[in-house]
Amino acid sequence: MRVAVLASGRGSNLLAILDAIARGELAAQVVGVFSDKAQAPALAHARNCGIEARHVSPRDFASRAEFDERLFSLVDAVQPDLIVCAGYMRLISDSAVAARTGRMINIHPSLLPDFKGLHTHQQALDAGARRHGASVHFVTAELDGGPVIAQARVPVEADDDAAQLAARVLQREHPLLVATLRELAAGRVALIDHRVHFNGRAL
Ligand code: GRF
Repeated sequence: MRVAVLASGRGSNLLAILDAIARGELAAQVVGVFSDKAQAPALAHARNCGIEARHVSPRDFASRAEFDERLFSLVDAVQPDLIVCAGYMRLISDSAVAARTGRMINIHPSLLPDFKGLHTHQQALDAGARRHGASVHFVTAELDGGPVIAQARVPVEADDDAAQLAARVLQREHPLLVATLRELAAGRVALIDHRVHFNGRAL
């Protein structure tokens, strides 16, 4: 499975994917990493591994649609089977999403549908949640609203702050993303009629 990764920052999820591939635990190849941030460590990780790493600056484009047209022309050029948004912090235009339905996933640090958007760990603390976690979902036009493929749960401890909670969730994000990619690479997961199917059966 040829994988393109979109990332805006640190890139720990990208590293988890690359580690799993290197260990022979994931039958995939990262064929390109793309970012809206020139200084994203994710781009540096990719370059260190000899993977194509491209930055596209939103400031060079008049609209989101034009930016996405350029970004996704670069993504399409590496011919990915799957596009993974791993800490990619920009909204994607509806047309770019629609053209890739079922071929683009996102990892989001909450138990969706709870706590969409930003600052999810603080949102969970503010809501008094006792459980929190991460979700991998297919990307649709609705922000963080696409069909969920898999989730990982962690407890919220009484004295947690957002940073502690984020660290606990992140530990679970990496294996969750790798396990989900393994299912996708094996062809066991697909989006059919807006519903996630496992082995041909709707969730
Ligand atoms: C992760 O928490 C991911 O769920 C969220 O942004 C963070 C990215 O972390 N969407 P990293 O860049 O993969 O380290």
